[in-house]
Amino acid sequence: MIDVSIIGAGQTKFGRHNDYDLRELFTKAATEAVEEAGITAKDVQAAFIGNLSADQFNSQCHIAPLMVDFAGMKGIPSTKCEAACASSATALRAAILALESGQYDVVMAAGVEKMTDLSTAGVIETLAMAADQTFEANPGITFPGIFAVLAVAHMAKYGTNKEQLAAVAVKNHANAVHNPLAQYQKAITIEDALSSRMVAWPLGLYDCSPITDGAAAVILVRNKAARKYSDAPVKIIASAQASDTMNLCDREDLTSLAAARLAAQDAYKQAKMKPKDIDFAEVHDCFTIAEIIATEDLGFFKPGEGGPAVLEGRTQIGAEKTINTSGGLKAKGHPVGATGVAQIIELYHQLRGEAGKRQVSKADIGLAHNVGGTGATCCVHIAQRW
Ligand SMILES: CC(C)(COP(=O)(O)OP(=O)(O)OC[C@H]1O[C@@H](n2cnc3c(N)ncnc32)[C@H](O)[C@@H]1OP(=O)(O)O)[C@@H](O)C(=O)NCCC(=O)NCCS
Repeated sequence: MIDVSIIGAGQTKFGRHNDYDLRELFTKAATEAVEEAGITAKDVQAAFIGNLSADQFNSQCHIAPLMVDFAGMKGIPSTKCEAACASSATALRAAILALESGQYDVVMAAGVEKMTDLSTAGVIETLAMAADQTFEANPGITFPGIFAVLAVAHMAKYGTNKEQLAAVAVKNHANAVHNPLAQYQKAITIEDALSSRMVAWPLGLYDCSPITDGAAAVILVRNKAARKYSDAPVKIIASAQASDTMNLCDREDLTSLAAARLAAQDAYKQAKMKPKDIDFAEVHDCFTIAEIIATEDLGFFKPGEGGPAVLEGRTQIGAEKTINTSGGLKAKGHPVGATGVAQIIELYHQLRGEAGKRQVSKADIGLAHNVGGTGATCCVHIAQRW
C-alpha cells in the first residue's frame, strides 16, 4: 500500500480571475498549502504541476520553474505534467512516486490553469487539441460534441434520458451552494437545466462544465513523518492511472471509458477495497453524461443504472453513494489543469470533517476520478481518514 499523506492543502476560488495572472494564482494556492502544512516554501524539495495549455491560454511555455520561483521555491526540481484534464492527477501521481522512491521527503503536487485569457472560441479550440487532431478535431468536432456522442450512445443502449442528465447538474449545483470556492454557488431546477440553451444535443448549457481560472496545491510526506506536521493528515492509499485510444472510433464501446475501469480496478486492488467500501467520491463530470458513466465505470452502479440512480437521489449527500460534494466540475468549475488536485483537496476536507454544510457523515474513505480528454487517460486515487 502507498505510504503517503497529505499534510496541507490550498486552493483559489474557481471562476474568472481578471486581477491575477497564472503565477499569482499558483502562488496563492501553493502558499496556502505550505502554511497549512506548517512549513515554509524552502522546505518543499520538489514540485509537480499539472497544466493543460498555458502555451495556448496564456502564451507561456515552461511554466514549472516560473511557478516555483514566484512562489518562493526557486532552485527545486519542478516539472509540468500534462494529460489534458487529468494533468494534475498525473502530477499527484508523480509526486507520490517521487516520495515512494525515497529521493524526497516533502513534495508539492499542484495544478493551475487560467482559461479566461482566451475567448470562448479560443478555449474550445485549445481544448480540442486534447482530442485526436487527425480524426476528431480537424474534421470539426469539439469536446461538447464528443461527449454528446457518448450521451447518445448511452441513451440508445440504456434508455438514459435528458431528465437524468439534468439531475446531475441540479445535484452538483445544489452541493456547490455550500462550497465557498465554487464558481457557481447557485442552485438550479430540473426545468432550468432542461430549458437551457442547446450546446451539442442532448447537452445544453447546464450539462457542461464552465470555463474557469484556478489553482490547487497539496503538500505530501511519507506517513511516518505526517504526524510531525499535522494533527489530521489524510492518507492516500491508492494511486492508479490507465490509458485508452485517443480516437473514439477505435473504441469497442462508447457507453463506458475503458481507462476509467482499468484505473479503478488497479486502485481497488491497491487499497484492498471494493466499490461498496467507498463512502463518497469526486468524479469527473466535465459533462453531465460523464458523471453517469463514471459512477458505472467505478462499480458504484451497474451499467445503465447511473442515470436512474442520480434521478432517484441515490447520489446526493448522505444517500447511498455520495457523488461530487464540491459541486463537481459542473458547478465548482473546471480549470482543467487544476481539477485533479482540487478533487483530492475535497477528499482531504471531507476526511478531516471540515466540509461544513456539505460534510458527509462517517466519511472514512473517499475516491477521486479524473479523466483526461475523452478518456485516453484516467487516474483514480483513494484517500483514507487516519
Ligand atoms: C458551454 C459553454 C460553450 C458556454 O460558454 P459561453 O457561451 O461563452 O457562455 P458565456 O461565458 O457567454 O456565459 C453566458 C452565461 O452563462 C453562464 N455559463 C457559462 N457556462 C456555464 C456553464 N457551463 N454552466 C452554467 N452556467 C454557465 C455564464 O456565467 C453567463 O451567465 P451570466 O449571463 O449570468 O453572466 C462553455 O462554458 C464551454 O465551452 N464549456 C465546456 C468546457 C469544456 O469543454 N471543458 C473541458 C471538458 S473535457
